[in-house]
Amino acid sequence: RSKRPAGAPDRKLARPVTKVGVVGAGLMASQLALLFARQLKVPVVMTDIDQARVDKGVGYVHAEVDKLLGKKRISPDAANRTKALVTGSVSKEAFADADFVIEAVFEELNVKKQVFAEVEAIVTPECILATNTSSLSVTAMAEDLAHPERLVGFHFFNPVAVMPLLEIVRAPKTDDAVLATAFELAKGLKKTAVLVKDAPAFVVNRVLLRLMGEVVAAFDEGTPAGVADNALRPMGLPMTPFTLGAMVGLPVAQHVQESLHAAFGERFEVSANLQKLIDNGVKSLWAPTADGGQEIPASTLSL
Ligand code: 3HC
Repeated sequence: RSKRPAGAPDRKLARPVTKVGVVGAGLMASQLALLFARQLKVPVVMTDIDQARVDKGVGYVHAEVDKLLGKKRISPDAANRTKALVTGSVSKEAFADADFVIEAVFEELNVKKQVFAEVEAIVTPECILATNTSSLSVTAMAEDLAHPERLVGFHFFNPVAVMPLLEIVRAPKTDDAVLATAFELAKGLKKTAVLVKDAPAFVVNRVLLRLMGEVVAAFDEGTPAGVADNALRPMGLPMTPFTLGAMVGLPVAQHVQESLHAAFGERFEVSANLQKLIDNGVKSLWAPTADGGQEIPASTLSL
């Protein structure tokens, strides 16, 4: 009996991946670069719009490797090898010899389409393109590609190093060999891959954001964020909603909520109050600490 995950094509169709490109050098992109280099042991090149961002991304990878070394989770040799595998560039020309390029740039359809147009002009015809989008349509992203069959959704969760799940998204034109390669990569990355439909926010974020939406509604009605978080703590959640919101980033969470609202209407209300706070630079609605958390004073919240 085959142990193939549901919907995964025959693994014999999978292509080798010997060099990975990551578009973006932000937090998600840097976490991906580290994972690919550490688990697949192949060169990974990250690109971003300026050298400072690229340096920050590579710096993050080095710092995380050093943390692993400090915890003796990685040998000194493996640490040096992993660091050497990750490089950065301000030019997408660095993807010319990559077989798999994943984007983790701003969550905006036109931005992602523009990125893929630029990448497609550089990469080989066989190179697989992947998007780490958390809520946008993979089908729409493939529309203007010269080779739409090479695009696949490859959606990781934060923190990438420890969250085991990977949502693999098949768009109508995604090739079987591309999908088979995605599943083989997931295995190499030691992630549990599930094949999900190309629906707004796929499966996990759709459910998670429904929960977040209700908690934010309670907050808008006057329940302090820390009170809501503490009330939900004994419910067995690995991380309570506002703590998770701060980790993922409130603007990112709000953006996913907007996509879900556009798709499903009032089932996913977008909080105008939360948007005001985000616009004012609020990054966390409360600051959890070891002793149970400290609420941000209401004066900074009631804008
Ligand atoms: N980066 C790397 N490693 C991290 C990390 C991070 N940001 N945060 C925690 N870890 C590691 C720790 O170093 C530790 O590793 P160790 O055992 O080698 O020391 C391990 O994870 C466990 O951490 P802790 O003991 O400090 O804390 P917890 O037991 O509370 O676990 C957690 C931390 C795994 C993050 C857990 O709280 C959890 O599962 N939270 C839920 C996260 C979640 O729901 N993520 C999904 C968000 S939605 C999303 O990402 C989708 C996107 O599209 C928006």
